[in-house]
Amino acid sequence: MNHERSFTLSENGQLICELPILFGTTGPDVIDIQTLYQRTGMFTYDPGFTSTASCGSTITYIDGEAGILLYRGYPIEQLAEKCTFLEVCYLLLNGELPNSEQMQEFEYNITMHTMVHDQLTNFFNGFRRDAHPMAIMVAVVGALSAFYHDALDIKSKTHRDISAVRLIAKVPTIVAMCHKYSTGLPFMYPQNKLSYVENFMRMMLATPCDEYHPNPVLVRALDRILILHADHEQNASTSTVRLAGSSGANPYACITSGIACLWGAAHGGANEAVLNMLEEIGDISRIPLYINKAKDKNDDFRLMGFGHRVYKHYDPRAKLMRATCYEVLTELGLHDDKLFKLALELERIALEDNYFIEKKLYPNVDFYSGIVLHALGIPSNMFTAMFAMGRTVGWIAHWDEMISDPDQKIGRPRQLYTGATCRDVPARHGKTI
Ligand code: SDX
Repeated sequence: MNHERSFTLSENGQLICELPILFGTTGPDVIDIQTLYQRTGMFTYDPGFTSTASCGSTITYIDGEAGILLYRGYPIEQLAEKCTFLEVCYLLLNGELPNSEQMQEFEYNITMHTMVHDQLTNFFNGFRRDAHPMAIMVAVVGALSAFYHDALDIKSKTHRDISAVRLIAKVPTIVAMCHKYSTGLPFMYPQNKLSYVENFMRMMLATPCDEYHPNPVLVRALDRILILHADHEQNASTSTVRLAGSSGANPYACITSGIACLWGAAHGGANEAVLNMLEEIGDISRIPLYINKAKDKNDDFRLMGFGHRVYKHYDPRAKLMRATCYEVLTELGLHDDKLFKLALELERIALEDNYFIEKKLYPNVDFYSGIVLHALGIPSNMFTAMFAMGRTVGWIAHWDEMISDPDQKIGRPRQLYTGATCRDVPARHGKTI
């Protein structure tokens, strides 16, 4: 980051201090306020970090006004069309797309780590069969740190790299186990002859009783869905992973904190909430009722899958997700799918409504993802776990970047205190404690 300009801070015309302005390769410049408190005795105030850059990063760039998303400089549209999810994983972790030799080695390493320690299966038995998969994911992914004492030194790049491979390889296996556990069906072991997504689909949807031949169109669609979810700059769950990692916590604990944060309905839980919302709306004739509920300040209902903190234009991932949705439904002979038609009409009506136009509320990545996952035979309570499966590589890339950052220190925000000032504990009936 460079700076040649400065920002002058004054109060009632009285100069307080000058702060350097830093600028990156593209996007908004930043005012470097690291010395603000020691020079002014004041903090900045920014709940939700709407105007705050928490770090410098080279991984993902979003232009919310223009609806642009770049992974390491490559547009999401090109990556979704020309690359596989594992190629995108390599790109996010290493900064460049792999050549064929690098890709072969990376894919081999991932494949060789897809199995989990057999003791890990015992953790599932402590849960009721109807436990939410994300509750199990938090427990089981967190438990991984108890199995890999051989590589928990976060200062070691070698340890960080093997942890990255283990997490990218094992999270799909654990996601599939969560689903099997909830159905009472036996866990399916990975098969090394299958690709990353073929393996996941077999572990998730097959049983030991039949041969499983994944549909290549559906495999490609799911691979693309994972690419669309792989990273998204400093979103809530990624910021959680960075903050957890800043204390020196091990990678499995940090990724677990990201999974926990992603579960919220305002974040990764929205895809499951969208499907529930569409099923509750039920019919095109009921759309105006729900549009009015979303606009009613006294009603806490929100149009799930709509709106975004950064995108004030169409989320480029939503466009790609809608196209993937159509591709999958057509392949499955479901192009008349009621939920998809309802979603298309809901989008059309909302985008013509002044409330959504003025507030720049467009469909986000979650609006269509639930419909295509539903069509792939994945139950809605698994949708956020699927999101976590795609986002694991983004969390790891940011965790690794944070640890390698020379400016890195433990994250410790301050506050605007509005509570009671200092006061004495009253004597109680003359008794002193
Ligand atoms: C993800 O950060 C990321 O990058 C996240 C993500 C990623 O890849 O990591 O992109 C993934 O989390 C996508 C978002 C999924 N969540 C939803 O679809 C839930 C529904 N959306 C909203 O809850 C909301 O839009 C957020 C949480 C996504 C964004 O909230 P902000 O930026 O804090 O905006 P806000 O809540 O202040 O809303 C601004 C205004 C408000 O009205 P006013 O108070 O100004 O009058 O817009 C309204 C809100 O009431 N509004 C909505 C709405 N979203 C915002 N009104 C109705 N329906 C909605 N969906």
